[in-house]
Amino acid sequence: MTEKTFLYQSNGNKIDKGSISVQSPSNIALVKYWGKKPVQIPANSSISFTLKNCYTQTSVSFEKSKEFQINLSVEGEKNLDFLPKIEQFFKRIKDYSPYIFNYNLQIDTLNTFPHSSGIASSASGFSALAYAVVQLEKQISNISEKEAMTKASFLSRLGSGSACRSLFGPLAIWGKHDKLNKTSDLYAIEHHEIHDVFRDYQDTILLIDKGQKKVSSTVGHNLMTNHPFAKQRFIQAQENIISMIDILKSGNLDEFISKTEHEALTLHGMMMTSKPYFVLMKEGTLSSINKIWEFREETKLPLCFTLDAGANLHVLYPKRFTQEVLDFIRQELIVYCENQQYICDEVGKGAKVLNEYYD
Ligand code: DP6
Repeated sequence: MTEKTFLYQSNGNKIDKGSISVQSPSNIALVKYWGKKPVQIPANSSISFTLKNCYTQTSVSFEKSKEFQINLSVEGEKNLDFLPKIEQFFKRIKDYSPYIFNYNLQIDTLNTFPHSSGIASSASGFSALAYAVVQLEKQISNISEKEAMTKASFLSRLGSGSACRSLFGPLAIWGKHDKLNKTSDLYAIEHHEIHDVFRDYQDTILLIDKGQKKVSSTVGHNLMTNHPFAKQRFIQAQENIISMIDILKSGNLDEFISKTEHEALTLHGMMMTSKPYFVLMKEGTLSSINKIWEFREETKLPLCFTLDAGANLHVLYPKRFTQEVLDFIRQELIVYCENQQYICDEVGKGAKVLNEYYD
C-alpha cells in the first residue's frame, strides 16, 4: 500500500450530523522509534505493547457547515493549548479524509491517566481522534473493518508517530522491515504471535516527574538526523525487532529483560550523545533502576524496566508476580514518585467504538 491507497474518492455524503465516541489506549515501545523524516516516516521499525487502563476517550460531534471549525474541550474545559497540533493534524489528513471538512466539529476528550503526569497523551489522543474520523468514513464509503483500522493507523501517524501503534493489541509493529512481510512506514500492523506470559503482562508506571517534557519528541527525533551514532542505531533497531519478535513468541523472560532494558537505555544514550545533548532521566529514575536491579538479583523475580522520552519508569513483569512487585514498589520505589503516584496498567487490546449516531 502506498500513500495513494489512502486518498479518498467521494461518492456523495448524505450525513448531516452525528456523534462518534471512541476510546484508544497509550502504548509502550519495547524496540523504540527515535528518528524520523518528513512526513512522520520512522527511521527504523518499532514494536510496542498496547496498554489497557491508560486511554483517551474522545467524542466528536459534527454538524454540516460551509466552514470547517474545530472546538476542543479537554476534560470538560475549553482548551487552546492542543489546538495547533490538532489543526496541523487536520491539515495533514485533508487529502485522505476530505469529508470531515464539511462539518463543524466539537471534540471532547479526556484521559484516564492524570493530566500532566508526564505520560504522553499524544499516542492515545491522536489514535482516538483518527479512529473517530474513520468511523464516519465507514458510514459514507465501502471501506471494510480491516481497511478502516489500517486507515485509522495511517491517519494517527500523521498526528504523532507512536499513535499509529495504539489501535491494535496486544502488540503492534510500525516501520518497514525487509524481513517482515506486511510492515509499512505508513501505518502499524497488529502482531499476534505472543506467548501467554505476555498476554496480560503488567506495566506499573512510576510517575517520577510529572512536569512538561523538557525536549519535545519532535525535537528529539530531529536530533537523530546528524547524530554520529544514528546509522548504527537504526541497523541495531532493525535487528532488535527480529529478536524481540522471537522472544515475545517463545516467552524467554531473561532475554526479554535484557533486550528491553538495553533498548530503553540506548534510547536515552542517543539523547545524551546528540548535539545538543540532553538528559531526561532524573535522580529518581536512576535510583529506581538500581533498586530494580538489586531486587531482581536478590529475588530472581523477572521484572524489568523501560522508558519513553521522559523520566517515568515503566516496570514490566508477569501478572503472577503482581503482589511481590507491588509490595516492592510500595516499600522501595514509591519514594521516587511525585506525590507517591504510580499507575497500574497491563497489556490491552487497542481502540474501540463506544457509541455513534448519524442523521
Ligand atoms: C521515545 O510518537 O511522541 O516514545 O512522532 O514526533 O509525535 P512524534 O513522536 P512520538 O515519539 C515517541 C518516541 C518514544 C519511542 C516510541 O514510542 O517508540
